Amino acid sequence: MSSIIPLFSSAVMVCSTKYALSAEEEDYIRNVEYSDNSGNLKSSSDRILAQPELALLQDFVQKQINSYTQNLLKLDSSIDLYITQSWLNKAGKDQYHPLHNHPNSVLSGVLFLSGGGELPPIRFHRFNPLFPLELNFSELNDFNATCRWFEPVYGQLILFPSSLLHDVVPNKTDSTRITLSFNTFLRGEIGNASALTSLTI
Ligand SMILES: [Fe+2]
Repeated sequence: MSSIIPLFSSAVMVCSTKYALSAEEEDYIRNVEYSDNSGNLKSSSDRILAQPELALLQDFVQKQINSYTQNLLKLDSSIDLYITQSWLNKAGKDQYHPLHNHPNSVLSGVLFLSGGGELPPIRFHRFNPLFPLELNFSELNDFNATCRWFEPVYGQLILFPSSLLHDVVPNKTDSTRITLSFNTFLRGEIGNASALTSLTI
């Protein structure tokens, strides 16, 4: 049988454990202040996960980040990934998230705080086309698709490389789509002294 190798693929991690928010955490999130954002609303604070009221949620997110870097990426243990900015987004009827990625970050994540119904999914897009051609396929898979989406599931966390392009189409429901997002950066020793690429961050 032939071997198929998913060469240089992007690892998106859909965490198997969903986070169960307490009534107090839900209450805290419900009362967060929002300001305008491109296509939707974003929390005025960009340090949501650093709030003492959400310490358990921050702990959950950090454990999933560690699982991604240690179990999946096999990143050297001298390097830590820590959460930098974290914020909430709210998309009411006809609101959306334009196509973007997250500069100045290594790994990003989105935790769904609403789900079900017809709420729009997060969509990830292929940056470089496999072929410079518009082709039709009888079915889509990870090798031919240019877009892959994930439906919002309440309490579910998705981790992805920050460079990966993503968007959310307009919310056509009467329900509000709420998500928590965050960025990360690394701390530790990278590079190699003898190759003159050594850096302590
Ligand atoms: Fe994003």
